[in-house]
Amino acid sequence: MLLKLLAVGDVVGEGGQDILSRRLSGLREETGAHFAVVNGENASGVGITPAQARRILDAGADVITLGNHTWNRIQIGDYLDKEPRILRPANYAGRVPGRGLGIYSCQGLRIAVLNLMGRLELNSNLDSPFKSADWLLNRGKYDLAVVDFHAEATSEKGAMAWYLDGRTAAVWGTHTHVPTSDCQILPKGTGFVTDLGMTGPKRSVLGIKPDHSINLFLGGLPRRYEEAEGSCKLNACLFTIDTEKKKCVAVNRTDIEE
Ligand SMILES: [Fe+2]
Ligand SMILES: [Fe+2]
Repeated sequence: MLLKLLAVGDVVGEGGQDILSRRLSGLREETGAHFAVVNGENASGVGITPAQARRILDAGADVITLGNHTWNRIQIGDYLDKEPRILRPANYAGRVPGRGLGIYSCQGLRIAVLNLMGRLELNSNLDSPFKSADWLLNRGKYDLAVVDFHAEATSEKGAMAWYLDGRTAAVWGTHTHVPTSDCQILPKGTGFVTDLGMTGPKRSVLGIKPDHSINLFLGGLPRRYEEAEGSCKLNACLFTIDTEKKKCVAVNRTDIEE
């Protein structure tokens, strides 16, 4: 069969949660998506609370992935231990709550979702995401594996996708909040896009008020970033996977603009 998996870019703030709540179920219907993975690391701007995680699950996400802002709302810690449908990057070094690999049943298949985070220009204290991927993918029992690689550098994301080519059905990047137009299928069957983009205010710098970002680059005093106002977009990609061959057969952008 063909399994359709929708991957949704970082949900930013109230605006992002609102468009997700209103549009995700319709997008799932339109695309025929069987499974949806949503990156939620910016639901609070930075971080996510348990209430926001529940809202994203209620909107129609099967799994929430996170990233470098995982610990900005530290109250998520216990929730990460209790709720199997939310993942944080697997390669955090040390002893932190939660898990980075989840296995979920969908259409009679066991789908492994792996959340990893890059080190280049992001967090050099992490374990190697490449070695973590090897270790986790070799020991999990599943039919198909997909990866949210939360990373800054396009090079690191590309290298990861090629490294996992043939071992995973899909690898997508998150974190930069800027959608890329390089949807492709690698030679051994892994579907890949460098970055999904974000789900949040359109007229913004990565979801926040432009003035707040300009202030930072002009050397102004640090201030709390506020979410931008106005209409929102939902950035996502649809991966179509041949479940017998365990290969991706199509990757398409399925963005929504309001
Ligand atoms: Fe991030
Ligand atoms: Fe983000």
